[in-house]
Amino acid sequence: MTDFDVLHDRSTSHSEKWDKTGLARNFGRDDLLPFQVADMEFRAPQVVTEHLVQRANAGIYGYEVRPPSLTDAVSSWYQARHGWTIDKDQIRFSRGVMNAIAMLIDMHSEEGDGVIIQPPVFFEFRLAIRAANREVVRNPLIRDGPTYRMDLEDLEAKASDPKSKILILCNPHNPIGRVWEQDELQRVGEICQRHGVLVIADEIHGDFAYPDFHYYPYASVVDEQVAQMSVTCLSPAKTFNIASVTESPIVIPNPEHRELFEQFTFRFFIDKPTAFSTVAMEAAYRYGAPWLDELLQYLQGNIVFLQGFLEDRIPEVELVAPQGTFLVWLDFRKLGLDAKELEAFLVNEARIALSSGYWFGRQGAGYARMTIGCPRSMLEDGLKRLERAVQTLS
Ligand SMILES: Cc1ncc(COP(=O)(O)O)c(C=O)c1O
Repeated sequence: MTDFDVLHDRSTSHSEKWDKTGLARNFGRDDLLPFQVADMEFRAPQVVTEHLVQRANAGIYGYEVRPPSLTDAVSSWYQARHGWTIDKDQIRFSRGVMNAIAMLIDMHSEEGDGVIIQPPVFFEFRLAIRAANREVVRNPLIRDGPTYRMDLEDLEAKASDPKSKILILCNPHNPIGRVWEQDELQRVGEICQRHGVLVIADEIHGDFAYPDFHYYPYASVVDEQVAQMSVTCLSPAKTFNIASVTESPIVIPNPEHRELFEQFTFRFFIDKPTAFSTVAMEAAYRYGAPWLDELLQYLQGNIVFLQGFLEDRIPEVELVAPQGTFLVWLDFRKLGLDAKELEAFLVNEARIALSSGYWFGRQGAGYARMTIGCPRSMLEDGLKRLERAVQTLS
């Protein structure tokens, strides 16, 4: 049993979330309780650490290849956990999901082409598109009661522009926590197929779906022909909290796309793995399931706690119904503050670091994203700070 209640001191392990220089740069002060980076405060599964220590003790760190057992571990995980049979020949690897997305944008579009995103959405998509001199094409999600839905009519319109070459699908969706349903994904597939748009499915949060919700890998629910126009980015980084020691498996059904991907990784000499990423990923996928089951239960407990706290003590702040991920999307619009005022309020009055909603697109103004992958005591500390700050407004 893992004790998820223990708060570990990360101040000596170069954590991006706790880094005071980064906090000061992004928020103007460094004395904040941080909930802004999408990693967790928990130790990785003990079995992953044991395999890493064993590998470290071997003491030889020369060039390596990826063993067939690695792709076996990836495909077995998706088969057992999500009922997806991945053809192992279709798996390639990248340094991380954003590294893959940046490469895929380069491979599958030209400067000036459009790349569609569905804001509010993970802001690094926009950064990657802009950095490649492509145009950001927005297909905003629609707030619909307690949650969000896709605007498929608008998607059809955006995809039908011949300049639109790619859709980046976030499944499940960061930051709003939707776990897309099978028929939604199929309709996205039909639209993109009709207009020759490649779907990059970012499924890094796929292992986090709460009871009553089901994660469907995009490529597993669309027709074979539609899947040929997709690339799925997987990762154990979030699932097992191993972002700094893993690579990402990338599933590329189309042989020509695989060829392009290989040419790219050779060209930039990023085709070789690191010893530790191979070991961490394989151990996590092979032996990490019991740990993940415990983690999901703990996170559900955090959601129940958060929901109760908001309802009882900060009813002005509304939780957008979470279906998956370990991120929650909080609606602060009843406080009547504009985007910058809300940010300043959270920083200077509540002294908590959340990801401001507008970072995810202007549709996110009035909202903020909070990571709940932390001990309940830390979550409670953050919520109490927020409660005190909200009381000062009345
Ligand atoms: C949706 C999404 N994609 C990609 C990433 C980053 O993945 P990586 O570190 O593998 O580049 C994150 C991290 O927060 C994320 O939430």
